[in-house]
Amino acid sequence: MRIRTQIIPVNPHHPEEEAIAFAALVIRSGKLVAFPTETVYGLGANAFDSEAVLRIFKAKGRPSADPLIVHLASKDDLRLVTKGAPEIAWKLAEKFWPGPLTLVLPKSGQIPLEITAGLNTVAVRVPAHPVALALLKKCQLPIAAPSANRFGHTSPTTAQHVYDDLAGEIDLILDGGATIIGVESTVLDITKHPPRILRPGGVTLEQLTAILGEVGYTPTPALNDQLGAFRSPGQLEKHYAPRAKLIFFTNPDVEKAVESMISMARQAKDRHQQVGIMLMEEDRPFFEELAAVLFSLGEGKDPAVAAARLYDGMRALDQARVDLILVRDFGGQGIGLAIRDRLKRAASQIVT
Ligand code: TXA
Ligand code: MG
Repeated sequence: MRIRTQIIPVNPHHPEEEAIAFAALVIRSGKLVAFPTETVYGLGANAFDSEAVLRIFKAKGRPSADPLIVHLASKDDLRLVTKGAPEIAWKLAEKFWPGPLTLVLPKSGQIPLEITAGLNTVAVRVPAHPVALALLKKCQLPIAAPSANRFGHTSPTTAQHVYDDLAGEIDLILDGGATIIGVESTVLDITKHPPRILRPGGVTLEQLTAILGEVGYTPTPALNDQLGAFRSPGQLEKHYAPRAKLIFFTNPDVEKAVESMISMARQAKDRHQQVGIMLMEEDRPFFEELAAVLFSLGEGKDPAVAAARLYDGMRALDQARVDLILVRDFGGQGIGLAIRDRLKRAASQIVT
């Protein structure tokens, strides 16, 4: 059954009391509210209500084996949701919360199995967005929230993105404008020694290494390696993906990468395919005469800008009905690592 999805605009810096009170009521009554965080929009439900949590999975078409992040109003609420947070959790919370770091910790008995997909750990974070924080405080409940997109699709960085994916499936969207960081939080498993990054994101590997000394991270395997490991392409879960076929160019030699992109674009044109390019500004002169749809990710030296525009770019090029999206690597430094991870997962093809 489709439901009416209401959109309420909120001031992202000073959210209106009335809007927050209404959204908190919707959450407390077991329904779903999409809200902005500093990373991407989340789709929230009362974390202590397993029926409400099940609604999240249904609305997104998300497999029940994929666990959710629990959002907290403050680090003091760690005691509610975890079974004894170790010293290191408090230290990281002190340093990075509110902010784009998700910690995986032993879960408390109060957290329903639906959230953790049966695992005995729970992923938690305190988001750094006035709307998210106001909602959490007003609810006086932890809020379970995955990204507010249909499963496998690009994460939403605006309320419109949420509406495009989930209209008719959810009760309310708080529209606080575009999110700032644009890629999801870093997921760090601190039940392991040394702690391991499960997903690179808004807090960088460099920042974590500075605090923790050693941090484990295994980069997302290139698509070709994944095929080798699984043997069956059907098992490959494409994620963060646009509708168009995304091709990711990873050659660190910029000239070669750009050359491959131009030649790929020309071949596609010969096949009468519409090409979209998510470009770095310094590459613009090479692409301008290609009759491709161009979407700027800013300067290559500023991956934070690229991160903020990445998902909007994929959605914008899909709306422009391109068949192919070409994009090159921003390097593995800082938030560039998260961009690389998402592009590898979104890609149908990786050109090395
Ligand atoms: O920035 C973000 O993290 C956004 C905003 C809304 O907070 N949320 C988000 O949630 O990206 P989602 O569900 O799209 O991604 C959650 C990630 C998944 O990769 C999931 O597998 C992992 O966190 N995760 C959740 N619980 C886990 C657990 N107990 N152990 C390991 N990984 C876990
Ligand atoms: Mg997601």
